[in-house]
Amino acid sequence: MSIAEKFATMEYGPAPEDPKDALVWLDGHKRRFGHFINGEWRDPVEGVFFDSTDPATGEKIAAVAQGSVADIAAAVESARKALSAWQALTPHARARYLYAMARSVQKHSRRLAVLETIDNGKPIRESRDIDIPLVARHFYHHAGWAQLLESEFPGYTACGVVGQIIPWNFPLLMLAWKIAPALATGNTVVLKPAEFTPLTALAFADICREIHLPAGVVNIVTGDGTTGEALVKHPDVDKIAFTGSTEVGRAIRSATATSHKRLSLELGGKSPFIIFEDADLDSAVEGLVDGIWFNQGQVCCAGSRLLMQESIAQPLIEKIQARMSTLRVGPPLDKAIDIGAIVAPVQLERIKRLVDQGVAEGATCWQPQIAMPSRGLYFPPTLLSNVHPTSIVAQQEIFGPVLAAMTFRTPSEAVELANNTVYGLASSVWSESINVALQVAAQIKAGVVWVNCTNLFDAACGFGGYRESGYGREGGREGIFEYIEPDWFKSAPALPASSKTTNDSEDEDQRAGLAIDRTVKLYIGGKQARPDSGYSIEVRGNEGELLGEAPLGNRKDIRNAVEAARKASGWAKSTAHHRAQVLYYMAENLSLRKEEVAKRLSAAVGKDLAEKEVTAAIDRIFSYAAWADKYDGAVHNPPFRTIAITMNEPVGTVGIICPNQSPLLGLLSLVLPALTAGNTVVAVPSETYPLIIGDLYQVFDTSDLPGGAVNLVSGYQSQLLKTLAEHDDVDAIWSFTDEASATAAKSYSVGNLKQVFTNEGRAINWFDPKQAEGRWFLKHATQVKNIWVPYGE
Ligand code: NAI
Repeated sequence: MSIAEKFATMEYGPAPEDPKDALVWLDGHKRRFGHFINGEWRDPVEGVFFDSTDPATGEKIAAVAQGSVADIAAAVESARKALSAWQALTPHARARYLYAMARSVQKHSRRLAVLETIDNGKPIRESRDIDIPLVARHFYHHAGWAQLLESEFPGYTACGVVGQIIPWNFPLLMLAWKIAPALATGNTVVLKPAEFTPLTALAFADICREIHLPAGVVNIVTGDGTTGEALVKHPDVDKIAFTGSTEVGRAIRSATATSHKRLSLELGGKSPFIIFEDADLDSAVEGLVDGIWFNQGQVCCAGSRLLMQESIAQPLIEKIQARMSTLRVGPPLDKAIDIGAIVAPVQLERIKRLVDQGVAEGATCWQPQIAMPSRGLYFPPTLLSNVHPTSIVAQQEIFGPVLAAMTFRTPSEAVELANNTVYGLASSVWSESINVALQVAAQIKAGVVWVNCTNLFDAACGFGGYRESGYGREGGREGIFEYIEPDWFKSAPALPASSKTTNDSEDEDQRAGLAIDRTVKLYIGGKQARPDSGYSIEVRGNEGELLGEAPLGNRKDIRNAVEAARKASGWAKSTAHHRAQVLYYMAENLSLRKEEVAKRLSAAVGKDLAEKEVTAAIDRIFSYAAWADKYDGAVHNPPFRTIAITMNEPVGTVGIICPNQSPLLGLLSLVLPALTAGNTVVAVPSETYPLIIGDLYQVFDTSDLPGGAVNLVSGYQSQLLKTLAEHDDVDAIWSFTDEASATAAKSYSVGNLKQVFTNEGRAINWFDPKQAEGRWFLKHATQVKNIWVPYGE
């Protein structure tokens, strides 16, 4: 076709990207890849390979090794061996390696973009202009954190050997999100790419060689879920970082519960895309194209649920359909293609099945009449309207180019619908009223809210979920915390197993046959409450003398306490200044009772320690009153015309199993950070001296603490822990007694993937502020929400 003819028709001609560099690289490896272990290519121990294919053509690209338990063992061993030398480097030396990675990614950007596109099926326009530049940016940003590590994170050290498992939707970007912060903080890595898309990780292995990264610092083992499982279960791995489906995240959570492995999870989403009637509809439609048709909709934060204000639903749907009709589906190496191929046949089948199910449940399916390629794995852009909020297509992650549309009437209905999901990864809010948009943004339970924009990412802005979208953040200062821990923590001595820990049976009535104590009660909803069981447990002093009786709480009491805590959510909305005032008042009231509290406590811990403990408790309350209005977020200035507002939001209702040592100070050291951050609390006090409840509710009652903000239920900790950890209305579980309790907290809470914070059964010196107060606790009491707001016309 001549240029003149093209001008006449304005049809697109083919515009293929040149794949030569990528093909030369593949051929250089004879299109057959072993694992990258200890700085060299190694054939798999069991000799098994699988094919990586191009989803656009179905053709084999290369043979890739299937990792076995033995391959994982070799990779972990190599990472372990490399660890001490890597940590012995200066921060500057590590920074230089990360900087070299960024430079090398840029140097090989065309190769990497083409490899990503042929392996995954995503349009070259996206891999070239979005994935690879973000990869380079991530390494640059983290070269900076490596350089500043010691000054910005004093008192922290690396986790150690980190196992990282990534998905197929952004293969190299997810690698960068994992490897950059791990290396910047002095960890060594074993990374397992997804089985559908291993090629760019293998190309990255070559980059590690090219920049002379010390052997063993980065190891890459390819394979499927069984390889990932071997990595998760390897005993010498200190941390697992996972991105992928919620289902596998849950399995990993379960598999790591009995270990001391740290865990961060970035899981699925069903993110709302909310358009108000005063929005700039044309911009919103362009946003939507990005929100759901970017990367064929195979995006964890895809705006897959469209929530439209009823008054504009009809014109909006028409605009969306008109725009959908101009989308071009086709060979992803073509630079003028909008929607490429679906990653694998199994994923295409899944999309088809879910769309069919949605239609069977009453949704109306609309697809534009556009040209579709005759071969390869493609699915047209799809709009499902009249979707019921409970339909499978409104609830489950489809991970395809499918938009499910619903309507709402008022902002509060929009928020309710937006939050009507188990997920909480991202959301997008469109309104020309900044007040409405920010008000809605504040109420949405999601780690990211994009106002009048969508799918913006930057290495400086942490990304990650609320609820069953996982926990932990990737990027920014908050992302660094996922790869470090307090330097004293790993060497803290293990606590002896709790002697009073009982089994989980429900025979509490038989174990405790005592009459109810009249003085100390449970504390639920701001009121003293008798235990449901009607029984008490004996509390004995150091000499074995009977000190009193504490109520024996049971499941019902825990449920009541959780309900009271949920109802007290107004605490989260109170100002930081107000929370500080309440805390100062608490300190004042404990001061007034100092002598009597110490006197009673002395029977349990001895006179000297009791006085010391009460004094330290007053000090600790002051510390958190001080923190209340100082544990602030930040404002980032990412490289777009936007600001990203980082908010430290409370996690919600926190269940806390308090330590047996320091019954007063230990309890307050955990309850206070949770409270300071705006959470509500259900705490189970020390089993050895639960009578402390009586002193505490007197202090709380006289300090203007709203009823339900803190609830105290004494009893057998192991039983109450189970109920708390399993409760779906508890958002985080903290356990600070023995190792068995730490394991139980992790295991019982797998169901709704609640956040877990434990001492791993180690002793914490509650008198030492370095160990027992401050940012480490506040970090666990909060979750970061980033609100992106554009500026300019
Ligand atoms: P997946 O969660 O099974 O795979 C992600 C990674 O985990 C891969 O590297 C895989 O090999 C590995 N893996 C699988 N089973 C494992 C196990 N038991 N232990 C350790 N590692 C394991 O995701 P899949 O099957 O590829 O996709 C299924 C669905 O998951 C998609 O349709 C989508 O809905 C969702 N998904 C969500 C992602 C996200 O970023 N939120 C990414 C990929 C998939």
